[in-house]
Amino acid sequence: MASERITILSSREIEKMRRAGSLAAQLLDYLEPMVKPGVSTQELNDEAEQWTKAHGAKSAPLGYNGFPKSICTSVNEVVCHGIPNKKQILQDGDIINIDVTPIVDGFHGDTSKTFFVGTPSPLAKKLVEVTLECMMRGIAVVKPGARIGDIGAAIQEYAEAEGFSVVRDFVGHGVGRIFHTAPQIPHYGKRGKGKKLRTGMVFTIEPMINEGTWEVEVMADKWTALTLDRKLSAQFEHTIAVTPDGVEILTLREEVAQRESA
Ligand code: MF3
Ligand code: CO
Ligand code: CO
Repeated sequence: MASERITILSSREIEKMRRAGSLAAQLLDYLEPMVKPGVSTQELNDEAEQWTKAHGAKSAPLGYNGFPKSICTSVNEVVCHGIPNKKQILQDGDIINIDVTPIVDGFHGDTSKTFFVGTPSPLAKKLVEVTLECMMRGIAVVKPGARIGDIGAAIQEYAEAEGFSVVRDFVGHGVGRIFHTAPQIPHYGKRGKGKKLRTGMVFTIEPMINEGTWEVEVMADKWTALTLDRKLSAQFEHTIAVTPDGVEILTLREEVAQRESA
């Protein structure tokens, strides 16, 4: 993946990515009110699958490298790639990341958000707020001529200053007609290092931030990644495009747009 060439999307292709990104954002908004104590992660999956089909799109995760469901649902100590399950019932105080990727007209919109189930503990609330801020700080440094390492450095500095750690084993990625392609976008690193960003590059920024150690372990199901110490992990993800002026978030939700202008 790292050695592949980085695709530059045309403005017509970026317009298609805008449509895919917008549908992905709307899907998270659609699911949000269902995230309540008592709901199963399978029910969230089924609602997402049905909504995606009803909007003429396909769920990219379903069957991707053998992934068995339509969305990823990662609860508490699950870092990413949690598999929806009818026996997994959300409890008051849980945190859950829902990661969706509809394919619209051949293009992938990849976004995720960590939700609170009922009332979070003060620690869970802080972790989730810091993780959102990490993603936004990573996005804020994107512009033509900036380097990939600038993104990771911005995220890592803030996460660690707040007493948390940055997952190394999973990274952001180029996205377009292909779900995961070059470049890789680590959420840690050094300013001034790595490839230069250019107008028309499209990739995700999707930091996973842990309460304790950054180390992870993948379960026997080959997908579910857990924190090694079983402490909490949170994640947010946007698909972004590098523009002549800086950056465009292709998966922006109304909610985030409001926070940004506040
Ligand atoms: N949406 C995830 C990402 O952000 C990838 C999920 S792959 C799956 O890159 F197979 F687990 F769905
Ligand atoms: Co992604
Ligand atoms: Co994703």
